[in-house]
Amino acid sequence: MERIVIEGGFPLKGTITIGGAKNSAVALIPAALLANDICTIKNVPNITDRDALFDIVKWLNCDINQEGNIIKIDSRKLNNILISEELSVRLRASYYFMGVLLGKYKHVEMYFPGGCNIGSRPIDIHLAGFKALGAKVTKRGHKYILDADELKGNTINLKFASVGATINIMFAAVYAKGTTIIKNAAKEVEIINIMDFLNKMGAKIKGAGTDTITIEGVESLHGAEIEVIPDRIEAGTYILMGALLGDNLKVDGIIPEHNKALLEKLTEMGVSYEVSKNSIVVNKCDNFKPVNVTTEVYPGFPTDLNQPMSVLMTQANGTCVMEETIWEKRIGHYPYLQKLGANITLDGNKATIIGKTKLKGCETNATDLRAGAALILAGLIAEGTTTIYDIDYILRGYENIINKLTNVGAKISIEKI
Ligand code: EPU
Repeated sequence: MERIVIEGGFPLKGTITIGGAKNSAVALIPAALLANDICTIKNVPNITDRDALFDIVKWLNCDINQEGNIIKIDSRKLNNILISEELSVRLRASYYFMGVLLGKYKHVEMYFPGGCNIGSRPIDIHLAGFKALGAKVTKRGHKYILDADELKGNTINLKFASVGATINIMFAAVYAKGTTIIKNAAKEVEIINIMDFLNKMGAKIKGAGTDTITIEGVESLHGAEIEVIPDRIEAGTYILMGALLGDNLKVDGIIPEHNKALLEKLTEMGVSYEVSKNSIVVNKCDNFKPVNVTTEVYPGFPTDLNQPMSVLMTQANGTCVMEETIWEKRIGHYPYLQKLGANITLDGNKATIIGKTKLKGCETNATDLRAGAALILAGLIAEGTTTIYDIDYILRGYENIINKLTNVGAKISIEKI
């Protein structure tokens, strides 16, 4: 077991380079199995969710060759066996093997996926999409068996613009006969990255990034190469750190447009930053104006930055409201922020945060990935020492976070316990 220890109050100066997007990479890796060939994925982030996917890929008898952040996946000897419960529950994105294996083999057996505890996280929209394409879904306990004689294109109207369901239905539909139209599709930029990969493999998909995606089924897919887009949530997390502690902190290797909603809120709060083509330089703000934030699907304010943003709100001069609308339970960090000294009142998923409060280091627990990120932000500005337990959640989604922060002046380390 390990814990993160932070000494707060040190300025952040220098450059942090952003890695590939977790939520893109975790779909691109399973997508490679759609080809009967070798695929190359560049800029894959060094996170434990990647390792969990590698274990599933190997379980299915595919080879992975890794050099730094470039991986090659060879799926020519794929063996479509039951994905064990132990592997399925290691991460949320294991659900992408449902769409991929159903699409390619018309049969898949696996268990309900795992992931952070931020709500009930059903997969009914995914399953409704598979059924609309002609699959039969059998559920035995936590195990799912999906079968089809053949998959046929259909028009599928998502009841909610789910990121995972949009991608999973694309996976199942690439080999379906005829045309599939996904309506009310999620518009997240990661979905464009997935479409580009599939099209390079020979798929015929249009419309990712809009609310209507059209997929013309094809007979076969070949190997292809894709680069994972920069992680806008990792970038946003470090931009927020820069707003609290930056001394010309440069967040590099990003697509600033992807962080538009965050940057607009920071402008409203009075944060000064300079945007270039692929980077942002952020400076510490001493007088944050209060703001209200409601999380929304892309291009709205991202739910994955809710928790880090709430730390900034503890430093605003006045009352801020943070309202979560995507997940039911993105609130695990609040008791720890209160323990650190923040003035927060919770009403369901709505937090009223009254600042500015001095935070004092204490012992905390990362209850999920972004809660962990929020506690790192809090620890970096708190007086004294903050200790974070359950850090596996953080390492799931933030590559080399300790090195990246140490390199810009933070006093942060991982200790074995
Ligand atoms: N939902 C359903 N039924 C479904 C699918 C989703 O009711 O079949 C609900 C969910 O319960 C939730 C909402 O729809 O209330 C949104 O879920 P969505 O399917 O869009 O989320 P996801 O695909 O499971 C991905 C990211 C999340 C990110 C969301 C929203 C991955 C592996 N996860 O989840 O990332 O919050 O999109 O952008 O891509 C994170 O990185 O911290 C994280 C949780």
